[in-house]
Amino acid sequence: MHTIISDHLSKEFLVPKKSEGMLGGFRALVTGAKEKVTAVKEISFEITEGEIVGFLGPNGAGKTTTIKMLTGILYPSGGRAEVLGFRPFDRSPELLSQIALMMGNKTQLWWDLPATATFEVNQALYNIPVSAYKERLAFLSDRLQVADKMNTQVRKLSLGERMKCQLIAALLHQPRVLFLDEPTIGLDVVSQVRIREFLKQVNEQYGTTILLTSHYMADVAELCQRIIIVDHGTKVFDGSLDGLTTKHDSDRRLKLSFTQEVIQDDVARFGKVLESDSTSAVISVAAHEVPKVTSAVLAALPVADIGIEQASLEDVIHELFGERTSG
Ligand SMILES: Nc1ncnc2c1ncn2[C@@H]1O[C@H](COP(=O)(O)OP(=O)(O)OP(=O)(O)O)[C@@H](O)[C@H]1O
Ligand SMILES: [Mg+2]
Repeated sequence: MHTIISDHLSKEFLVPKKSEGMLGGFRALVTGAKEKVTAVKEISFEITEGEIVGFLGPNGAGKTTTIKMLTGILYPSGGRAEVLGFRPFDRSPELLSQIALMMGNKTQLWWDLPATATFEVNQALYNIPVSAYKERLAFLSDRLQVADKMNTQVRKLSLGERMKCQLIAALLHQPRVLFLDEPTIGLDVVSQVRIREFLKQVNEQYGTTILLTSHYMADVAELCQRIIIVDHGTKVFDGSLDGLTTKHDSDRRLKLSFTQEVIQDDVARFGKVLESDSTSAVISVAAHEVPKVTSAVLAALPVADIGIEQASLEDVIHELFGERTSG
């Protein structure tokens, strides 16, 4: 049995119809004219128990909308969602007791009270025995290094501390499936690393299935054996990180620095210019052409130093979306 199934999931929103100019806008208000916006378009994937899957894509791609359908917050316009054998939108207590959703940019904690107030509500809600609750809270708060913040009003916590508390709130009932929508957004590198390590541990120790979105490549590279990329509501890639970088393995970044100023056009002759100023440039070159291009560049330009790098995941994703939008 698959833990998460998204079968041609689609979501359309009705939004006020866009009209030209002020008068048009006014008319739209009066008539209440609406138009359909497709946020998610027939996205299909299956996730097996224990997997950590990265759900990636540019702003507005449809990631949050998909997660909301998988957690029963939004009703799909089309297709089928299934989590642990349940339809999420039915919101059956049996399903809700086995899943959790944490959104990095939206606090689910009571603002004016210490985080423990929210934790206690969850304890009652999920029928967690007091002893187990205390044990888990001690364990989680210790691991996330916020044990000394348990009596502080949520509004007084730092962003990182608050997000760690949100993770605790999500994990107290030991869910089998964890949905994380940008769990490290806005955090400094140290906090990001800590949360990453923590999630890895949770996955290894309890076999928790995790679907997470993030705009940070390090999250993805560290945590996810598999990634799904969406763009404009459509799935454009599903596979291993290696698979993605190998598929787009053909490009190398040639980093050049010069002993004196060079003209842009002289550099552009050798490959696609990714970055440049008067005394340095980065160009993209097909892997098999690297030897040829390198010697040509050395012969033609006053090269002080030359470096060759493989395209990063960020480059690859950029390339992927670039292709789609330009094609
Ligand atoms: N309630 C809503 N009403 C109308 N349009 C919506 C609603 N929610 C989302 N959308 C639109 O659906 C599209 C997908 O939004 P979504 O939030 O799923 O993107 P996302 O991939 O999570 O982006 P981000 O990386 O910025 O969080 C966007 O164009 C958004 O404006
Ligand atoms: Mg989002």
